[in-house]
Amino acid sequence: AETHYHEFVVRETPVKRLCRTHNIITVNGQFPGPTLAVRNGDKLVIKATNRARYNVTLHWHGIRQLRTPWADGPEYVTQCPIKPGATYTYRFTIENQEGTLWWHAHSRWVRATVYGAIVIFPKFGSSYPFPKPNVEVPVILGEWWNRNIFDVMRQALFTGAGPNISDAYTINGQPGDLYRCSSKGTTKISVKSGDRVLLRVINAALNQQLFFSVANHKLTVVEADAAYLKPFTSRVIMVGPGQTTNVLLTADQPPARYYMAASAYATAQNAPFDNTTTTAILEYQNSRSGSSSSPVLPQLPAFNDTATVTAFTSQMRSIPSNAKVPTKIDHSLFFTVGLGFVNCAPGPRCQGPNNTRFAASMNNVSFVLPRRTSLLQAAYQNIPGVFTTDFPPVPPVKFDYTGNVSRALWQPRFGTKLYKLKFDSNVQIVLQDTAIFSTEDHPIHLHGYHFFVVGQGFGNFNPQTDTSKFNLVDPPVRNTIDVPVGGWAVIRFVADNPGVWLFHCHIDSHLTWGLAMSFLVENGKGELQSIEPPPADLPTC
Ligand code: C2O
Repeated sequence: AETHYHEFVVRETPVKRLCRTHNIITVNGQFPGPTLAVRNGDKLVIKATNRARYNVTLHWHGIRQLRTPWADGPEYVTQCPIKPGATYTYRFTIENQEGTLWWHAHSRWVRATVYGAIVIFPKFGSSYPFPKPNVEVPVILGEWWNRNIFDVMRQALFTGAGPNISDAYTINGQPGDLYRCSSKGTTKISVKSGDRVLLRVINAALNQQLFFSVANHKLTVVEADAAYLKPFTSRVIMVGPGQTTNVLLTADQPPARYYMAASAYATAQNAPFDNTTTTAILEYQNSRSGSSSSPVLPQLPAFNDTATVTAFTSQMRSIPSNAKVPTKIDHSLFFTVGLGFVNCAPGPRCQGPNNTRFAASMNNVSFVLPRRTSLLQAAYQNIPGVFTTDFPPVPPVKFDYTGNVSRALWQPRFGTKLYKLKFDSNVQIVLQDTAIFSTEDHPIHLHGYHFFVVGQGFGNFNPQTDTSKFNLVDPPVRNTIDVPVGGWAVIRFVADNPGVWLFHCHIDSHLTWGLAMSFLVENGKGELQSIEPPPADLPTC
């Protein structure tokens, strides 16, 4: 195994998109940021220096961080922010993971422009469980705002308005031909007839699930969230924020130019969204018509086409590995995921309906980050008063999640509540969309783990009839699960990684509203004894 050293300098950089230039936060002046290419088993040492005017942290999304929770990155969860002028070095090892993951800032909405791909190749001497591609490219889907991202964040926080209306979607940082002033920069992927191409599709958008398709080419899905899948073909894929999906395509069409394109899968009722389409070009080098011909656009589904999403996700089956699906469950948890309102005093920070502002919660607890120190430091050093461990394992009140919910249940309580898991215990979590205010598809991400998705469906989860239909044979392994709109998903995992791990909706507006909680995984001998000690340069708050 190898050790890879990188220097990541976070700074403000002028970038021109959609006819205008403004300063965005970047790593090393690059947008998207640098790709980390490693092999399974390698070690990464990334020295992060903050030269921007804002606090920042970096998160390696989907990396398990076994014994190194200090390197995970979410601000105030595993570390205090890296302040302007400061440096922190992230050190971690890739253990038994292969495929595509990504990294991003995990501090307020800085990840809007601070992100990049992580490509994990198989160990030397081992290979992919599918035919070797001769072209491999990250395809990072994102969102672009003409406004300052902190203004967009504040608008979401205090009014509930605006967050889903970006000015463009992007592929590898570029909106593409269908937007103003964008043709020149359009991302192009050059292929020869007969090439086998691996597209590593990453959804780095802040707030939007996206459909992705390539005109005239069939996509063979081979991996998601750095776990291999039994290959299946699909004309279109849907990727939720935080998720990654690897697809193979063969350049077997008449040599020409073809658009690859992404557009919104939007599930919130009555919420406006960006309905534009971003494109990149798959360009055959031997194209007869040259580079002047206009490419063919793929047909993307309608924005509310949940049937296509279900047809796609229900085909995912993992390639069985040694990792066994837990059958005997030690912690059986039931979490509601949904939106609501909290009362507030009239003013600029309180612009929701009837003196309220938006809030989001799990089991009616709207998550609040500490400010004094991080949760992990507080747990490791036994600092009292930073968090409580009374996160409810089931909702406080029983109600029909998909029916009319009484108004009394619309208002979550704020709290910094953790739930303790015993080391090596088997955990099952039912995630249920609430239909309070609006049904929505929530991409829920667990830090420090990947998990088996044993079932999903629509309406209320019914333990009697739904449990018997669980897939305990070859369920997909993921780190981010899109809980179906107006429905539920059930995940299982073994709590074998001690630390404090954030569990949250990867739609940043929902995360900002509190759709999160954290697990404290102990290790049996006393809390957190087996993790590495905090690095000497760990930032202080
Ligand atoms: Cu991709 Cu908590 O993040």
